[in-house]
Formats: sequence, structure tokens, C-alpha cells
Amino acid sequence: MREAAGFGRLFLFPEASKHLFVRRARRRLSNLRLTVSHYFNLWRHAPPGRRFDVVRKVRSAVRRSPAPLRYLDIGEFKSFEQFEIKYRQLAEELGVPGKIPAPGEVDFLHAMVDLDEVRYPGGIGSRDYFFLTALVGILAPRRVIEIGTLTGFSTAIIAAAIHRQHGSFFGAGLPSGRTGIAVDTIDSHTHCSIDTTRPIGFEIPELIPDLVSTVRVHTGHDSNFVREIATRGEFGLGFIDADHRHPWPLLDVLRLAPYLQSGAWIVLHDIQLGTYGKAELDAGKGIEGGTPYGAEWLFDRWPFRKIRSFHIGAIELPARHDSLVPFALDLMEEPFELTSKAAKRIRRALYQSFGDLL
Ligand SMILES: C[S@@+](CC[C@H](N)C(=O)[O-])C[C@H]1O[C@@H](n2cnc3c(N)ncnc32)[C@H](O)[C@@H]1O
Repeated sequence: MREAAGFGRLFLFPEASKHLFVRRARRRLSNLRLTVSHYFNLWRHAPPGRRFDVVRKVRSAVRRSPAPLRYLDIGEFKSFEQFEIKYRQLAEELGVPGKIPAPGEVDFLHAMVDLDEVRYPGGIGSRDYFFLTALVGILAPRRVIEIGTLTGFSTAIIAAAIHRQHGSFFGAGLPSGRTGIAVDTIDSHTHCSIDTTRPIGFEIPELIPDLVSTVRVHTGHDSNFVREIATRGEFGLGFIDADHRHPWPLLDVLRLAPYLQSGAWIVLHDIQLGTYGKAELDAGKGIEGGTPYGAEWLFDRWPFRKIRSFHIGAIELPARHDSLVPFALDLMEEPFELTSKAAKRIRRALYQSFGDLL
């Protein structure tokens, strides 16, 4: 199905299946068969006392056919005019027709764009934070979990968008200590790779001085730490922008899913990084830091509802978290972009994450 010009493209299954990667992904998922190695790893890494249960539940999840797919490619947010147009289209798609940007939203984005020339490197670009802002504004989650903080630029974007929706009243009903916290952000480092004298999240007080208390920065941890800071179903949205090497983004999704509300969305950054890097290399250009495929493969293969805006995308969690396991087993067939020891560790972590999804 093609939408009006300028409004992106909406594909509904089976229209979506015209796209080769979608068709291939769905076929692979339907053909997935559990091997001896799968059974061995499921058994070995299941929580003691739940081994039979885990194997039985994975077997039945694999037998179920993949859910229908709905895929919107909304295109890039190239201007303020497009922000307002695409905001409305996203709102329609997300079941909030007629919703428009909150007062102050566009002014805030103008202030961020004005910083472009003097910004620290490494954070998301304007087209991507227009999309992120629109999504947070429309879905209006009260609590967001972010993996990959760096300077805290995207953290500030999210916290400001939540504040415009809920003011200071977003913590009602939370366990004590978390009232008033809009964003939890986790980073494996304590200091920024772009300037090792600066602590992770240092930009947050510069960008949103009045909202610093609504953000908690957790350094020296990865996504496994979410279980220490939240209860199941606590977050309304996730944002993953950390280690992009396959299968890190997959592991991050599997670990966050139990702590997100049912049907919540997770935003993924750099969903074209691998392809972009290959094109640059083919053109004889070197790229600093590598251009892994982890987020790209995850987004492209995602068999549930999803929305793309060029480099950034959002995936909707299926109603049944156990459906994530066959998807994960299939994606784990792709070569890991890690050294052999790290690959072994992350394979184990992936299998261990299944226990919380079943
Ligand atoms: C691309 S930067 C994040 C940029 C930030 N989201 C923004 O747009 O302002 C990636 C960050 O992820 C962190 N990181 C790398 N691997 C990680 C992991 N496995 N878990 C958590 N954080 C990780 C790095 O230390 C780095 O600060």
C-alpha cells in the first residue's frame, strides 16, 4: 500500500512481504527447527528448577506462526515543517489521531538545532532526535529506559519530551525512590570515549538544567542492570544506542522486554550502519570505529510491527514475550561480530535472558 507523497510508506502484511528481507526473515522464522545444540543450550542456561519448563515453552513458541506484520517507513525528518507533518502521521499510526506537538516542543528543537555547530560528537543527529521526540511526545511514556548514554544528549531529549507531556507528575504509583524519575540511562563506561576527562552524562545539566533530577545515570553497567533498578512492566518506552555489534542490540532488547509494558516500543539507533559502512568502504573511504550490523539486522528481521525513519527505527514488542525466543534463535544464526571469548559469553547471556521471557 502506498501512502500520499511526503507521508512515507505503510506496508501491511502481505504487502510487506514484497520486500525481500521481510519475506526471507518470515520464511526463516517459519522454518526454524530446534536443533540438538539449541536444546543443549536451553537446558544448560535455564534457571535451575525451570529447565523442563523452559524447553517446553520454547518448543511451543517455535511452533506458533509469526504474527502479522505492520511496517511503516515514515521517511526522514528533514525540516521543521516535516516534523509537524510526520508527527501527525505518526500519531495516526500509533492510535492517537489528531495529536500535535506539545507547547514548547518546536522551540526546544530549534534550540537543539542551534547547538549543532558546537555540539559534542557521538550523539544522535537532528533528523533522528526529531523522530525520537515525536515518538516520545505521541506515546507519552512516564518512564523511559535508555541503554547507551555517552554525554547524555539523547537522554536530555527524552527527558524534556516527557516533561512537556506530564510536567512533574510522572512518578505517581512508583515505588519510593523512583517517584520523579522520568529516564533511567545505563552506560557500560564511567567516562566518555569522545573526551575521557568527562563523566558519562555530563551534558545533561547543560542541556536541561531544570530537569536534572528527573534523570538517573547508571554507569559501569550494561543492560543486565535493568533488573536492579526496575520492576517488571515499569517502563513505557526503551531506547537502545549502545554496542551495535551483533548480537548486543538483540541481547539489550531481550533484557529490556520484561521491564517494559506490554506492547511498548523500543527505539533503535543506527539501523543502517552496516550497509552505510560497506558503501563507504566500497567507495574507498575508511570509517573510524567500525560499522557493525547488529542494530540493522535486528530491525530488518523484526517480524512484528515496526517504524523506520532512515537511520533510526522503532520496534513494537509482541503481546507475548515468548514470541521473541524463536526470533532470537533465528537471529543468533548470523555470525557474531565479537571475538571468540566475548561471543561465547554473549551466547550464554542470550540463552539466560530467555528465562524471563517465558
Ligand atoms: C553512540 S553512544 C550513545 C550516544 C547517546 N545515545 C546519544 O545519542 O547522545 C554509545 C554509548 O554506549 C556505551 N556502551 C557501549 N557498549 C555498551 C553496552 N554493552 N552497554 C551499555 N552501554 C554501552 C558507550 O560507552 C557509549 O557511551
